[in-house]
Amino acid sequence: MEYKILDGKKISEEIKKEIASEVENIVRNGGKRPHLAAILVGHDGGSETYVASKVKSCEEVGFASSLIRFESDVTEEQLLSAIDKLNKDPEVDGFIVQLPLPKHIDEQKIIERVDYRKDVDGFHPINVGRMSIGLPCFISATPQGIVELLRRYEIPTSGKHCVVLGRSNIVGKPIAQLMSHKTYPGDCTVTICHSRTQGLKEICQTADIIIAALGSPEFLTKDMVKEGAVVVDVGTTRVPDTTRKSGFRLTGDVKFEEVAPLCSYITPVPGGVGPMTIVSLMMNTLKAGQKNLFND
Ligand code: GUN
Repeated sequence: MEYKILDGKKISEEIKKEIASEVENIVRNGGKRPHLAAILVGHDGGSETYVASKVKSCEEVGFASSLIRFESDVTEEQLLSAIDKLNKDPEVDGFIVQLPLPKHIDEQKIIERVDYRKDVDGFHPINVGRMSIGLPCFISATPQGIVELLRRYEIPTSGKHCVVLGRSNIVGKPIAQLMSHKTYPGDCTVTICHSRTQGLKEICQTADIIIAALGSPEFLTKDMVKEGAVVVDVGTTRVPDTTRKSGFRLTGDVKFEEVAPLCSYITPVPGGVGPMTIVSLMMNTLKAGQKNLFND
């Protein structure tokens, strides 16, 4: 089968242009330039890269941004008070705390301290709860990016069987919810598979859409995929590669070379879901600046 690429890089560039022109409009009419802040703890390579991309994207769309750094021995108290400060700062419209955090810090406590009206990551239980019943809210960036990618390519979803591999709070659970919602993209029959699922291969074989988000390099192989399926690869594992200057390469959860020929559409890694995730954060920050998402 002649497969088509779901080109997240290209679509994200288009969306960035749309956001940039919206920002220009706002500023031209005397409004405030949206401002995203990011808290980064420690020096994890992946987190450094992600936060740098977020800051760069802010520049590209005309947002103000600030990066607040802490060493990995930061105390929970220090982090909580940095969050309190951002919650109160009228200059900052939205902010994120880059995850994962060091073991001695209670991640859930950090997430819940963020004012949900500035929670552009959509991780606060208020946003998660509102998302699950289809109320206006901040939707976390990766699931929102996936949905936007499906929308822009006009992928049919109504009545389709969507199999989600992985049940994380930031991808698996929310994308499963979104794909089941009574809307487009959505209206799918959704199955969530995880490490304890029995008959996973057979379940995948019945999928019209597979969203692989387990963080297990090249997990999805050709024997698991039906002809004509749409495959979305959320994996971004750093696999050591001595032929690269960086010393690693990003590897998805899908064995691309053998799965792609079976697909109608498939996302590449890199250049698929990754850029869509970053641009979704920009969409959320734009919304945060508009201050009309919640009625309080
Ligand atoms: N770590 C991995 N993905 C994300 C994300 O979307 N937001 C934050 N804050 N941390 C992450």
